[in-house]
Amino acid sequence: MKVNEDYLKLPGSYLFSTIAKKVAAYREAHPDADIIRLGIGDVTRPLPPAVIAALHKAVDEQAVAETFRGYAPDLGYAFLREAMAEHDFQARGCEIAADEIFISDGAKSDSANIQEIFGRDCRIAVCDPVYPVYVDSNVMAGRTGDYDAATGIWSRVIYMPCTAENGFVPELPEEKPDLIYLCYPNNPTGGAITKDQLQRFVDYANETGAVIIYDAAYEAYIREGEGIPHSVYECDGARTCAIELRSFSKNAGFTGLRLGATVIPHDLKTRSGDREVELHSLWARRHGTKYNGAPYIVQRAGEACYSEAGKAEIRELIGGYMRNAGLIRKGLEEAGYEVYGGVHSPYVWLKTPDRLTSWEFFDRLLEQVQVVGTPGSGFGPHGEHYFRLTAFGSYENSVRAIERIRSL
Ligand code: MLT
Repeated sequence: MKVNEDYLKLPGSYLFSTIAKKVAAYREAHPDADIIRLGIGDVTRPLPPAVIAALHKAVDEQAVAETFRGYAPDLGYAFLREAMAEHDFQARGCEIAADEIFISDGAKSDSANIQEIFGRDCRIAVCDPVYPVYVDSNVMAGRTGDYDAATGIWSRVIYMPCTAENGFVPELPEEKPDLIYLCYPNNPTGGAITKDQLQRFVDYANETGAVIIYDAAYEAYIREGEGIPHSVYECDGARTCAIELRSFSKNAGFTGLRLGATVIPHDLKTRSGDREVELHSLWARRHGTKYNGAPYIVQRAGEACYSEAGKAEIRELIGGYMRNAGLIRKGLEEAGYEVYGGVHSPYVWLKTPDRLTSWEFFDRLLEQVQVVGTPGSGFGPHGEHYFRLTAFGSYENSVRAIERIRSL
């Protein structure tokens, strides 16, 4: 028996598992410590009442023979796909039909799995820093070449640095990639992309034949009226070059419930020999073979997010988190930190003080003031000397965390 050797190339454990282990070790040594967690981007507020009501109703339906549902349709229930097509896309002028939306258990798994439908020799381009799942899933698939532990760089990955100088929106890649991963509003930097900036990537992808994998998990945090697109399909020509990932986690609080979607327009095609292939058919084939669909009750909960009550409750949830983001930003700025993000995003990205490395700052915060954040270097080499705090804690904990950091 041989294992998949590509897994052995992965350095260390998954970023958030490493952090959880460090925090657990600290707690064991200091059982009474009052630790405030602003590390992993996990929500803390309860699900909106409209979602809870839909869950209860769907559970009751499962108790009665006439309304009981077994396997969900492979690609998702029409009621949810239609609600998403209408509210997330058509209402914003994006030409996306319900049958181009595939319902799943979340954007993390979709962002990790989507690479399966592409050739093993495809080259990927990622922002640096980047959500680690995009790179790690391609490492597991044998697409990334060799890892240089000294620089944290994979030999076959094209890195697109995102820095304060470029406003955390990268230049077009110099080498030509086959797949371009973009996430806006961005995790981890909290940066946003304008429609014109995104249009440049769409034009580039159409010119070069690359495919954009656009992770829109944080679109609900966009402040209106500033030219920031909610979907890549707001750009002309995106139907022929882009896949979009959607999540119910950060907007409606489904991190525990699990629900997401991938959009693949029928116009996204490539050639294989003399055959024209729709990427939509490949992903549908994968779904059919490997997935039995998100649970009925969860899809009904997702549908409730698009009711008038659901939309209003979600706006309120997001408003609460953005209030935290604002106070974290302000508190850090007043304390003299260089701070980014937190405007169209629940993530605040700060420069570490005193040229500390990201992990040194992580240890300082944990040991001296018992606040947990995420080291920027865990997201890639250009994340070094940066640090991420999330606005997903409670208001009280956000206030306390900032008071503690200011006391340093
Ligand atoms: C994060 O903290 O970056 C996110 O929680 C990751 C995720 O959504 O999987």
